[in-house]
Amino acid sequence: MNNFEFKNPTKIVFGKDTIAKVKEEIPKDAKVLLLFGGGSIKKNGIYDQVKTALTDFDVVEFGGIPANPEYAILLEALEVIKNENITYLLAVGGGSVIDGTKFLSAAAIYQGKTPWDILANNVRTEVGMPFGTVLTLPATGSEMNSGAVITRAETKEKLAMGGPGLFPQFSILDPQVIASIPKRQLANGLADAFTHVLEQYMTYPVGAMLQDRFAESILQTLIKVAPKVIKDPTNYKAASNFVWSCTMALNGLIQKGVPTDWAVHAMGHELTALYGIDHARTLAIITPSHYKFNFDAKKQKLAQYAERVWKIKKGSKNDKAFDAIEKTENFFKELGIDTKLSNYTDEYEGTAEKIAKRFTDRGWLTLGEHNNLSPDKIEKIIKMAY
Ligand code: NZQ
Ligand code: ZN
Repeated sequence: MNNFEFKNPTKIVFGKDTIAKVKEEIPKDAKVLLLFGGGSIKKNGIYDQVKTALTDFDVVEFGGIPANPEYAILLEALEVIKNENITYLLAVGGGSVIDGTKFLSAAAIYQGKTPWDILANNVRTEVGMPFGTVLTLPATGSEMNSGAVITRAETKEKLAMGGPGLFPQFSILDPQVIASIPKRQLANGLADAFTHVLEQYMTYPVGAMLQDRFAESILQTLIKVAPKVIKDPTNYKAASNFVWSCTMALNGLIQKGVPTDWAVHAMGHELTALYGIDHARTLAIITPSHYKFNFDAKKQKLAQYAERVWKIKKGSKNDKAFDAIEKTENFFKELGIDTKLSNYTDEYEGTAEKIAKRFTDRGWLTLGEHNNLSPDKIEKIIKMAY
């Protein structure tokens, strides 16, 4: 096991009818900016629950943060924060609203020339404006981590940011919120969380027995609850296990002491930036090709995953490892997620070259757990995913 440090300061308030508890978590004298997305919370009752809980607070609202939170819109929210002397941010939404809020938490205090620097130069935020979240969509783990991904339509870029100052102070996780989520977004959530585990697991063995078992148990739980959640999102037992699996998949715990990959996400973000494909779907496009291309480097863990998660008993280690890639692709397909780029756009020719060039221009020359995925290899992986 590798050395590590671990600190996660986010308080989780989990369970049925917990949204009302938001009032216990925000300082009474705060001036709150309530941030939300395109309006789903106004239809499913979550907005009303939050507003009722915050009756005694001084609250300003900013709605309209789109999926893949857009920089230009967030700048409008930043104006509100400054003009209204906001002291506390409350994100009510999925990964996009929470990530947008993290950007605002950083930008509200940032002293540099333009807030875009935070993304372009990957400025780490040590201290941000305090914020909490009410999660409405399990998927990203953003409710209990300190990372965010922001999109800029003008330049077709999607860049990550983070730092220890960007953990939510609290997150309220009421699994009942998933009842109103459309099937497509439920499938996305399952696939995103599944891939988060894989990014931190599908590397090479370092004798981290507990982390491996943590990761495998999250994968097994997601496989088990996936059909139940899709069939009936009001099934509380399935919903609660789904929500907690998504949070645990990316709150830092399972990546401690082990190598991590994250190349699938790096490539996936480019597909969203170029074609607007849903985040989770980009991961389903890249993952099978990535594992096939890096088969030798990953085959030990692929075989372990085959045996322990998919219960594949027959064949050599290589056979099992191959079967596991197939099982993974089928898992995505069973969720209704297509796994080829050509299923999403007719203009896929040239995509691989374009992304490889972007990585070269940004100086991203060494991706993956072995720091050996150079842009020419990235180009090959993406071509395999056409
Ligand atoms: O905008 P509204 O109207 O609220 O609708 C949203 C949105 O259209 C809807 N929705 C959310 N909760 C709902 C609901 N509809 C009905 N009932 C509810 N309870 O779902 C749609 C998608 O929401 P979004 O927040 O975009 O989804 P998700 O949580 O998958 O977030 C995706 C974003 O997070 C980033 C992605 O790149 C993408 O930008 N990620 C963030 C990460 C992080 N911070 O750690 C890690 C991830 O790998 C990912 O990159
Ligand atoms: Zn993701």
